[in-house]
Amino acid sequence: WQQKWVIGNWKMNGQLHNNNNLVHKLRQLPAASNVCIGITPPTVYLLQVHNAVQIVLDNKIHVCAQDVSRFPDKGAYTGEVSAEMMRDVGVDIVLIGHSERSLYFNEKNDVQRLKIENVLNVGLLPLLCVGESLKEREDGREKEAVAYQLSVFKGLKTQNFAVAYEPVWAIGTGKVATKEQIADMHAFIYNEILSLCGNDANIRVLYGGSVNDTNAAEIFSVPHVDGALVGGASLKYDAFTAIIQAA
Ligand code: 13P
Repeated sequence: WQQKWVIGNWKMNGQLHNNNNLVHKLRQLPAASNVCIGITPPTVYLLQVHNAVQIVLDNKIHVCAQDVSRFPDKGAYTGEVSAEMMRDVGVDIVLIGHSERSLYFNEKNDVQRLKIENVLNVGLLPLLCVGESLKEREDGREKEAVAYQLSVFKGLKTQNFAVAYEPVWAIGTGKVATKEQIADMHAFIYNEILSLCGNDANIRVLYGGSVNDTNAAEIFSVPHVDGALVGGASLKYDAFTAIIQAA
């Protein structure tokens, strides 16, 4: 867990042909032993990206999923994709509770908890996204909001906790949290997980929200920043590789 993680979240973007080009170019990056790279394509492209990163030259690229079903097994759940199926097509990490899932699908802690358990049960790593809204920050309730979101971890049978701190007001807005805000919240997240889940927890906290090639180096220098979850800039080869190189 010493490496920095740089995970690109493509959200609902991508196309067979473009995906291949981007992944092919990423595969040719020189090995960076201090960085762990991840790509999070839409579900329909997971297998394509998995196959494309299989033939890796130097860098291992992890395949991540943007979401997973709350239902654990196979069965009559039209439209759903289970954690087991994610594993079957080569997924390593699954994002849980991205703020866009709460915003557009009204996803709350109870559903996130089910999804985390499903992911852990098939041996994959859940990456929980947390972050306050602008209103919560303006009201000085950002820690309360994040603590509530982190409470889904309570009592889980795992030692490995991965979190992305993504202040909602910084996502896709070009507004980045300040170094002080990031340092303060990341330290808070570490402490909160330790007190919820015990001192032997392995913790990794990524920052997300308007990370790009010009601000990445500064963000990576902040204490307790173990990597970045990158949205828009992960769709552009030049920007994404510059972020990887800054890590
Ligand atoms: P942007 O990098 O586009 O702000 O998105 C961040 C994000 O939501 C990653 O999950």
